[in-house]
Amino acid sequence: MELMKEIEGRRAYRAVGPESLDRATLSRLAEAAHLAPSSMNKQPWRMVTVTDPERLAALRATLSSGNYWALKAPAVTAFVTSADWGLRMPDGRELAWFELGMAAMAYQLEAVHEGLVAHPIVGFDAKAAAAALALPPEATLVILVVVGKPGDAAGLSEKHLESENGPRIRKPLDEVAAFDAWNDRLLPPAKG
Ligand SMILES: Cc1cc2nc3c(=O)[nH]c(=O)nc-3n(C[C@H](O)[C@H](O)[C@H](O)COP(=O)(O)O)c2cc1C
Repeated sequence: MELMKEIEGRRAYRAVGPESLDRATLSRLAEAAHLAPSSMNKQPWRMVTVTDPERLAALRATLSSGNYWALKAPAVTAFVTSADWGLRMPDGRELAWFELGMAAMAYQLEAVHEGLVAHPIVGFDAKAAAAALALPPEATLVILVVVGKPGDAAGLSEKHLESENGPRIRKPLDEVAAFDAWNDRLLPPAKG
């Protein structure tokens, strides 16, 4: 089992093709997400996968202009939670958000494994998108994951084309990971 292949293969690709995806495939992605761990097994994640043309059009209308590339995708999965659905520690930590993120990562890795693009986005009008999905008021729509087959990069902006084919950009590992105790290299650089 070589998981690093999927981890490295997952990139925020924007060249997504319009070919539709079958329900069984999309359900498998949700199933992978649903196998994520959660505190007290509360499973606070909720996913709504949109493929219906009318509903998809309503959701697409909420995307910010920078997410023009997502308009082609045949499926978009909304990742939804509420702090009330997950564990709340007495010290104020709310686990629902973290656990939704773990579920979303499993979703993306399974998508990569199946040869698909799965790109999380936050650039959309969350209120309008929640209405398009008929979410109940207590639910928070955190991200959308745009799903599709790898497609043509021709319509992408220059900036997006560059990131599509460019090297992976990450901080040096020792700026984000240490052994044994906090290390001041982990501090984000001061702004200004
Ligand atoms: C929560 C979240 C929101 C994001 N929102 C957007 C977005 O609205 N539009 C977009 O093009 N990319 C979006 N991205 C993709 C990031 O820009 C991308 O993950 C980052 O640049 C690192 O690139 P990589 O995923 O290819 O390693 C988002 C990623 C995450 C995790």
